[in-house]
Amino acid sequence: MSILPVYLDNAATSWPKHPSVIAAMQDYLENCGGSPGRAGHGKAIASTRMVYNTRDLIATLFNAPLTDKVIFTKNATEAINMVLFGFLNPGDHVVVSSMEHNAVMRPLRELEKRGIDLSIVQCDFCGRLDPAKVKSAFTPRTRLVLLTHASNVTGTLLPIAEVAAIAREAEIPFAVDAAQTAGVCPLDIQAIGIDFLAFTGHKSLGGPQGTGGLVLGPNVDLRPLVFGGTGSASESDIQPSFLPDKLESGTLNAVGIAGLGAAISALNNFGIENVLCHERQLMKFFRDGLREISQITVYGSENPHEGLGVLSLNIADHSCEEVGLRLERDFDILTRTGLQCAPAAHHTIGTFERGTVRFSVSRFTSEEDILATLAALAKIVRS
Ligand SMILES: Cc1ncc(COP(=O)(O)O)c(C=O)c1O
Repeated sequence: MSILPVYLDNAATSWPKHPSVIAAMQDYLENCGGSPGRAGHGKAIASTRMVYNTRDLIATLFNAPLTDKVIFTKNATEAINMVLFGFLNPGDHVVVSSMEHNAVMRPLRELEKRGIDLSIVQCDFCGRLDPAKVKSAFTPRTRLVLLTHASNVTGTLLPIAEVAAIAREAEIPFAVDAAQTAGVCPLDIQAIGIDFLAFTGHKSLGGPQGTGGLVLGPNVDLRPLVFGGTGSASESDIQPSFLPDKLESGTLNAVGIAGLGAAISALNNFGIENVLCHERQLMKFFRDGLREISQITVYGSENPHEGLGVLSLNIADHSCEEVGLRLERDFDILTRTGLQCAPAAHHTIGTFERGTVRFSVSRFTSEEDILATLAALAKIVRS
């Protein structure tokens, strides 16, 4: 029996959270609550220690060169903006894919107005990227390659290791939007050759909303976007030049960071490889079941090894909004409909402006959840 509601909107934000996340946040609020890095009393020291521990867990998770190269942000969007606005200068050229989220496209469209040039490398209709096309887009002014690691519309993985090698050979820094893959795919930024990794805490890492971050590789630096108090070097009215303080002004979301730390510990106990394996098994099961139902168009690659636990579909001439509404109203199944903040990806797979119904699983999703979803979709088709 699946437990209702069947929550299949984990690509937007994961739910449920592991009980240890809720416990850690409650414990922080009840028993700690000091301002991290801001005072010498016991509560502030406990808070500082907790923030350091979570930073260290993240540094280990992504193999950051130093714990201090992990910068806390409120989400992946903020981390991506920090890279784009803190690294690029007028006259620079940037290469991205045609599967990017608006977290990438909107800041870049703004930067185009400020003299930055953009090349968008076309992916195929499943969202797959040919790394050779990235190389062909380079110009002498190319200063950054930025790719989503996996599409939030189709779940298709982009070949970041191959592109990292191409970018390294051309001495062009490489940034990855890991919003959909942090917590699903093992990610070693030094082995792959990633200079900037933007991640969000509230999706597959299993943490609370309002958490995320940026991990810097060994050889890159950024201008801060926000200046202010850091608790350090308080004798000076000039922004500190050392990390993470240089890029982390203002009081941190300590309660969120407490939850994120607990989430990463729970994830490590479960094993990231097991998450990917579980999501791929569910997607294969889902796709196999969908083949038995007429009138359904499924997007993205059929090969589960080319993606993760995100699937988009449409039913005959029903609007995606109608299907999403009926799934919730009649079957208590929660999905995300429309363009999912990624119009570029929908242009690529041919679903702009219609959009899709998106189903996204987590490690807490069961085969029963997928069976219930298949039965619901079959009933919608029949009606
Ligand atoms: C591929 C991708 N990039 C970036 C984001 C933005 O993440 P956040 O809303 O946590 O900033 C999302 C969120 O849906 C995403 O799917």
